[in-house]
Amino acid sequence: MSPNIGYLAKGRFQVEIVAANRRMVAGKSSEQVTHWAAQKALSLAGDAPILDLACGNGRHFPELGNQGPLLFGGDISDPMLRVAQTLLEQTRYGRGLVRLDAEQLPFPDKSFDVIFCARFFHHLPSRSLRESILSEMFRISRHGVVLTCKARYSYEHISKVVKSIFIGNKGVVHRYFITTREVTRIAESNGWKLAEKYAPHPLIGANRGYLLIPKK
Ligand SMILES: C[S@@+](CC[C@H](N)C(=O)[O-])C[C@H]1O[C@@H](n2cnc3c(N)ncnc32)[C@H](O)[C@@H]1O
Repeated sequence: MSPNIGYLAKGRFQVEIVAANRRMVAGKSSEQVTHWAAQKALSLAGDAPILDLACGNGRHFPELGNQGPLLFGGDISDPMLRVAQTLLEQTRYGRGLVRLDAEQLPFPDKSFDVIFCARFFHHLPSRSLRESILSEMFRISRHGVVLTCKARYSYEHISKVVKSIFIGNKGVVHRYFITTREVTRIAESNGWKLAEKYAPHPLIGANRGYLLIPKK
């Protein structure tokens, strides 16, 4: 697959080797929400595998890949996948990594029991992009999609914006948001529904978790 540079993060992560090695350890609030999401994913999974989509350097593999269902990871970035490979090999149920583009997932319908996707949506700048990626996740999942996302209106995010003005952290400026309303609307239009939302510190922390399941 040749590098396809559609939006800033998509291009940057494909060439930025530093990003693959940093942030192996998440912040406290992020860790709490990703732990919630990983446990939801594991509890919903049955016989078919879990896909960690936009798995990055694979930092969630130790939690996802040692308890039961087979685990696959997918990401667009080769540098990320190289680091992820080492972590996958250290898990019991990790089975493979795929270089892919989340906009067109290279899997048949309902290939996985659950899609787990952490910290990806704040890189996606448009509604239509978020909608097409989330719809792809619904297409390839049987039982659930679990997301972690960032919320705009939180002390954590607002203080980062203020710091970025004085210190100049450009990453914060290029952050986007998927709201609960938007998640719900995209789920409904695909025959899915929002089953649970997790926000342990709603006004303070920016991290949110969403569990989506098919409507029966
Ligand atoms: C902030 S990282 C999150 C990584 C990991 N999920 C985590 O929680 O640490 C975002 C990831 O999205 C990947 N990415 C960006 N655009 C993508 C796309 N269109 N398809 C697949 N992966 C993509 C990047 O390569 C990067 O690894």
